[in-house]
Amino acid sequence: MELDRRAFFLSVGGAAALSLMDSEAKADALEHHMMMQFQAAAAIPGTGGTQKFPTVAEIDAQIETRPARRGVGNLFTSVRGNVKKLPPMPEKPTLIDFFNLRFATTRNHCLQSANRAMKTGMTEEVILACLLHDTVQEVMKTDHGWWGAAMYEPYVSEKVSFAIRYHQALRFYPDHAAGYEYPDLYKRMFGEDYVPPKYIQDTYEMVKKHRWYMEPRLVTVNDLYAFEPGVNPQLEQFTDIIGRNFKQPKEGLGNDNSPVAHMWRTASHPDSPL
Ligand SMILES: [Fe+2]
Ligand SMILES: [Fe+2]
Repeated sequence: MELDRRAFFLSVGGAAALSLMDSEAKADALEHHMMMQFQAAAAIPGTGGTQKFPTVAEIDAQIETRPARRGVGNLFTSVRGNVKKLPPMPEKPTLIDFFNLRFATTRNHCLQSANRAMKTGMTEEVILACLLHDTVQEVMKTDHGWWGAAMYEPYVSEKVSFAIRYHQALRFYPDHAAGYEYPDLYKRMFGEDYVPPKYIQDTYEMVKKHRWYMEPRLVTVNDLYAFEPGVNPQLEQFTDIIGRNFKQPKEGLGNDNSPVAHMWRTASHPDSPL
C-alpha cells in the first residue's frame, strides 16, 4: 500500500508535531497509520477508504480478494511486505516487555487513549483499561473486547476487564451526553449500512443498564484514532498505575499456569507452527 504523506502528517497533527517525536514514536505512528489505512482501504479497493463509505455488500464482496481474513491478529500478518523476525522475549516477561517487544501496532493508539484519559482526570481503572483496551488485537481482532478481557482478567480488577470487554459493543452506539459519536472509521470498516449482530445489540442493552456502564463508555470516549499535535505519550507515564493495578505474575506472563497463559505465550511466540 502506498503511503499518503499528507494524510499521515494530518494524522499526527502536522509536520511540526511529527518533528517533536523521537524516531521510535515516529515509527509507531507510521505503523499505526498504515494499519488504519489498510483496514479502511480493505473495505473498498481503490478508494484509500477516504472518498466514500462502502456498503456491507461491497465489503463482503472483497473477502475472497485477500490472502488473510480481516480478523487476523497484527502479529501474524504484515501491511507492508513480509513479516519481520521478532526480538526474543525475556525469560519472565512483564506487561512492559509485551508493550515494548510485541504490541508494536497497537501501542501508540493505546498510549494515546490512556494519555487522554489521564489528562481528563479519569480513575486509574479507566486509564488502565484505555491502556490495555486494544492490545489483544496483536493476537486476534475479531471480538477483541471479549478476547482482551479474557487475556487480562486474572491480572486486573473486575471493573477493568468489564471496561475492556464491553468497549467493543459500545463503540457501535453513540452517547452524545458522554461525548461519544459513531466513528467514520466504522463506516469504512463495517459499511455505512452495517447493523451490529444480535449479541452486540443485546450486550449494549445489558451494559446500558449496568452500574458500571461508564467504565467501558469512557474507554470509547478516549478511543482516539488521531494524534494530538505535540503529544507524544510514553509508557513510563503509566508505570505507577500499572504497578498499582496490574498483578504481574512473578513467573512471567505466559509461565504462570493461569487459564489464559497460552494467550500470552501465543503473543510471545507467534512463529510457532503449532
Ligand atoms: Fe477496540
Ligand atoms: Fe481503540
